[in-house]
Amino acid sequence: MLSPYEIILRKREGGTLSAEEIEYFVTQYTLGNIPDYQVSSLLMAIFFKGMIDREILDLTHAMMLTGTIVRLSDVPGCKADKHSTGGVGDKVSLMLAPLAAACGVKVPMVSGRGLGHTGGTIDKLESIPGFRTGISISEYKRILKRVGLVMSRQSDDLVPADRKLYALRDVTGTVESIPLITSSIMSKKLAEGIDVLVLDVKVGNGAFMKDLTQARSLAKKMVQVGKLYGKKVAAYLTDMSQPLGSEVGNWNEVVESVKMLRGESDADDIVELTTRLTAEMVSLCSGETRAVASQRVKKAIESGAGYEKFLEMVKAQGGDLNVVENPAKYRKPRKVVEVKSPEGGYVASVDTFKIGMAAVKLGAGRENVEDKIDPVVGITILKKIGERVSAGDVIAIVHANDEERAKSAKVEIEGAYSFSRRKCSRPELIKERIA
Ligand code: URA
Repeated sequence: MLSPYEIILRKREGGTLSAEEIEYFVTQYTLGNIPDYQVSSLLMAIFFKGMIDREILDLTHAMMLTGTIVRLSDVPGCKADKHSTGGVGDKVSLMLAPLAAACGVKVPMVSGRGLGHTGGTIDKLESIPGFRTGISISEYKRILKRVGLVMSRQSDDLVPADRKLYALRDVTGTVESIPLITSSIMSKKLAEGIDVLVLDVKVGNGAFMKDLTQARSLAKKMVQVGKLYGKKVAAYLTDMSQPLGSEVGNWNEVVESVKMLRGESDADDIVELTTRLTAEMVSLCSGETRAVASQRVKKAIESGAGYEKFLEMVKAQGGDLNVVENPAKYRKPRKVVEVKSPEGGYVASVDTFKIGMAAVKLGAGRENVEDKIDPVVGITILKKIGERVSAGDVIAIVHANDEERAKSAKVEIEGAYSFSRRKCSRPELIKERIA
């Protein structure tokens, strides 16, 4: 008879857990037979003592088997997904999925909601009136076959262990752990029935991994696990020391993505990162070089083929095309407040965690599980690291629905920026590729 108490003690002392013990903890917790307080304690022990590779693999496997394993063999073509470890203003999935589909890849994307200070693709998509993210597996397959892409949230039976563990980690300070992130992400991705996976491992003050060494080790673990399951996997380490693009929120991020898909974006970082990650996905699926795949992705932007795919997907999932095509028709936030630079010089750094938290407090994310997202609130970032500013220049704009929240977001954003008299360089956006 296995004892949760003894398993916790062994991990607390830095021991390794057997496959049987890991499977027992995961399945019994999912079934509601082990209480949150014992699982929290084990999570904290894993957070501090880590896990060896075999334990990470066993944990991933046990989590994956708590739900349905989707079979996509009846959907012709190469199936691929992308997952980011989480950031601020990270809207890449909204553009990557339709662009990859326009290049012939089948993209069955399962995404998450916002977590902590980071935004979530599902919350962004749900800002489109009528858009349904909770769809059955049979509808998911139907849309995938017909449109070439589908963007859904986790169904109730896809890795239920992760849903429970994730919510618990979120409130017990155990998110930033390499074994726990690896098993959380990979159990979901392995259950999806994909052939190819592209991982975007964020690094910097707005990411869960604050430095390159940690991010590299997380990326290597996830690639290793994916390969052991016969998937083609590539991971990129990319910058999260400032928000990605200009918009942080939900509806405003959809609008920014639509602009990019129409070829009208002036946010170099989102264009560069989306093109690179999409080209990686296309290349892993088609066998073409990344340079050739990149040309195809650029063509899909120029020709509008990616935008057409996005519209097809929105329509298939019940979203209102009218507002997507005419964003001016969307309801407006009641308060718009400018944040100004207190001094002249160059933007030296941006505390991206603070920006993410400011957006959450405006209502763009959740402080409590039951909080409702306000889709129109958010922040527009006008000045990024390395840009020149004069005293009084507008560096950001707050979109809010109430005075108090607008004021406190303004103060948070003012405190997030630091300036320098000397020229500062832009952080390198794409730092490494691991495959
Ligand atoms: N995204 C996930 O799905 N899980 C994690 O643990 C972190 C980011």
